[in-house]
Amino acid sequence: MSSLSSSIADLRKSYERAELSESSSLDSPLEQFDQWLQQALKAQVPEPNAMTLATVAGDMRPSTRIVLIKGYDERGLVWYTNYDSRKGQQLAGNPFAALQFHWVELERVVRIEGCVEKVSAEESDAYFNSRPLDSRIGAWASPQSQVISGRSVLVANAAKYGAKYLLNPPRPPHWGGFRLVPERWEFWQGRKSRLHDRLCYRLENNAWARERLAP
Ligand SMILES: Cc1cc2nc3c(=O)[nH]c(=O)nc-3n(C[C@H](O)[C@H](O)[C@H](O)COP(=O)(O)O)c2cc1C
Repeated sequence: MSSLSSSIADLRKSYERAELSESSSLDSPLEQFDQWLQQALKAQVPEPNAMTLATVAGDMRPSTRIVLIKGYDERGLVWYTNYDSRKGQQLAGNPFAALQFHWVELERVVRIEGCVEKVSAEESDAYFNSRPLDSRIGAWASPQSQVISGRSVLVANAAKYGAKYLLNPPRPPHWGGFRLVPERWEFWQGRKSRLHDRLCYRLENNAWARERLAP
């Protein structure tokens, strides 16, 4: 092992900031998530709205990437992307996915699993139209996940669509929102001596059952 990798092996942190118990957690996982996200925002952790999205391709191989949560309610958690992208194609073939937030400074992780659906065209339009102009042009300019010959392709596309649509680009048909409808939530709070708190909520007869998992 190189000295760098051996020093990585020696990296260890004790998690001691908070605890999560059956009595302190909320009955609704959505409300528990809302509470933790609000606390992450208040604590000004970097990119509190960034979540890892895992999808599975037709050959059963998983892949992950980061996306930004743009809304959440009792229907699920929403993000926006290119429907023709690698993740978009994987979700079209297999609509099951997992999301993960890691709020490092709070020593907290939230994991959510469920089925994914497209949000309505009206919802995607409303969010698209709220985006800055360069982001709206970018949605046209980037054939997300496709191989391109160089950065100049993006610059030329942005100029082309900027000239075409001026101040009012419509939402591209290949761009919009996905919503993950949760079937399982897990809240992880780091604790001392690797005896972390893990509370898992899973749907049982249309109600949320809460269980503690060993760390
Ligand atoms: C902090 C952060 C936020 C991101 N947010 C999004 C997003 O909301 N939607 C999106 O399509 N890509 C987002 N990306 C880019 C993705 O991580 C990824 O590169 C892209 O979606 C292509 O993934 P795919 O080829 O697996 O489809 C974000 C990247 C970072 C680092």
